[in-house]
Amino acid sequence: MKNLNSLLAGIFLAVAFPFGTLVISSQIQLGPLGPAPAEEGGPLFPSREPGLAIQGRAVYVSLGCVSCHTQQVRPAGQGSDIARGYGVRASVARDYVLQKPVLLGERRIGPDLANYGARTKDLAVVHTAIKHDGQFTFLYTGAKQEVPSGRAVALAAYLQSLRQDYSSPEAKLKK
Ligand code: HEC
Repeated sequence: MKNLNSLLAGIFLAVAFPFGTLVISSQIQLGPLGPAPAEEGGPLFPSREPGLAIQGRAVYVSLGCVSCHTQQVRPAGQGSDIARGYGVRASVARDYVLQKPVLLGERRIGPDLANYGARTKDLAVVHTAIKHDGQFTFLYTGAKQEVPSGRAVALAAYLQSLRQDYSSPEAKLKK
């Protein structure tokens, strides 16, 4: 009987301990995160995506863009993301609190897109990038594939909404 009790206690601990550390402690650390100002009284970041960008996010998911593009900028000491111009600072957890689903990406075959909207202002450049030299021209019509479909328009709005170029409490940009 004594052995049974310690066996049961062992099983309980084996389940409770990882649950406590993995689920509860991450919830305590990250659960309450929301948009916040970098300094008191400043604007709240991250901001909400425009409605068209939310539709574009669904197109991004449906076309599998995550299989080649990440959305996560590593800190300067852990890779060359910032030197390559993928971002102006490292990504932090707060950057993703309004995103559903969070699209960190599966593999990085093309450039990281976490800050794409901040580095690419020209809409024509965005549409050229989406086409990928032919792979995604089915999203366009017209003799020269110059007319974007509804899906391409939404996708471009989503790409232009991607930005991590603001200061946040964990990642302040140098002035
Ligand atoms: C098979 C891998 C692959 C897939 C799938 C893919 N891309 Fe790309 N993407 C690339 C590569 C590689 C480049 C770089 C091309 C170059 O520089 O000429 C790129 C470039 C881009 C760029 C330009 C980035 C920059 O910094 O200039 C954007 C934007 C982009 N892709 C968006 C998308 C979107 C949206 C989708 C889904 C519809 C997608 N990609 C799917 C591989 C991929």
